[in-house]
Amino acid sequence: MPKPVEWRGDAIRLLDQTRLPLTESFIETTDYRVVADAIRSLAVRGAPLIGITAAYAIALAARNSRETTLAGFRSDINAAIECLRSTRPTAVNLFWSLRRMQHVLERDLDVIALCRALEAEAKAIHTEDEESCRRIGEAGSALVPPVATIITHCNTGALATGGEGTAQSVIVTAVGQGKRVRVFADETRPLLQGARLTAWELKSLGIDVTLMTDSMAAWVMKNEHVDLVVVGADRIAANGDAANKIGTYGLAVQAHYHGIPFYVVAPVSTIDPELASGDLIPIEERNPAEVTHAGGIRIAPENVRAIAPAFDVTPSALITGIITDEGVYRPPFDFKQIHRSRR
Ligand code: MRU
Repeated sequence: MPKPVEWRGDAIRLLDQTRLPLTESFIETTDYRVVADAIRSLAVRGAPLIGITAAYAIALAARNSRETTLAGFRSDINAAIECLRSTRPTAVNLFWSLRRMQHVLERDLDVIALCRALEAEAKAIHTEDEESCRRIGEAGSALVPPVATIITHCNTGALATGGEGTAQSVIVTAVGQGKRVRVFADETRPLLQGARLTAWELKSLGIDVTLMTDSMAAWVMKNEHVDLVVVGADRIAANGDAANKIGTYGLAVQAHYHGIPFYVVAPVSTIDPELASGDLIPIEERNPAEVTHAGGIRIAPENVRAIAPAFDVTPSALITGIITDEGVYRPPFDFKQIHRSRR
């Protein structure tokens, strides 16, 4: 599998996920603004990967700053941080990783040492996420029965993270342990991350995957003995409400009706303890053309009104457990203090 993000010392190489699975093409750049555009256009996507990529973008901005004074250099980097912050509003990993970069920027060092420290921090964010994915896989696979049917939504695999994935790491780890797992993957309208990315990744890994449209999930739950649903998250509020790709909420309602366990899977960096509930999570509104068109071809009448919220929020009451790199949390969720012990 091609790596979604590769740091090359003086440049970054990004796999353009908008063109998968038909074309494997890369964006190689030294310009943080090009990286910001790649995040905006979903060439790079998935909450943890957005955070990792933004951190590398700041390392690039640091390398390319012509400022020799500390004040000038810090002002350059803060402008880059602001640019990256404006790319996508929902995935909190973006803001979490930029905050880490900003803390490094405030260290009492000279410009050259700050450049090195920013690059080291970006690499650390990347390798830590790889380890988080491994721990998530271990924690979550314990919940997968020896023979299991799993539904998943959107893409939560290696293309969305620095490692094996979040929800997908649960699946991959369970299969690695010899469990017989079959997966039903939602296609995930409108941008088809399930069809284009998850089906491609799982097939490449030799995992039994069946693609379905999002509207088939309830029927599959009724007829296919589904054992559990695993989905990722872009931001989890202090009370456990979880924002994830549009369609996740509906899937949770359907799982609840059918008595099927519904797990949200994410590193703790996806938890935002500052938001009391999911009502406060900013939801990205994308261009309605993503709904009126498919693959660049108009599928709806001219001038019809369309909406394109990229995410929805699943209320914690519908969530059986939240699988993280620090273990599995069960309701009632209370993440108000989650990052306190670390900083
Ligand atoms: O719009 P996207 O493709 O960035 O949305 C991705 C998702 O919703 C994922 O489920 C989420 O980021 C978790 S990825 C490990």
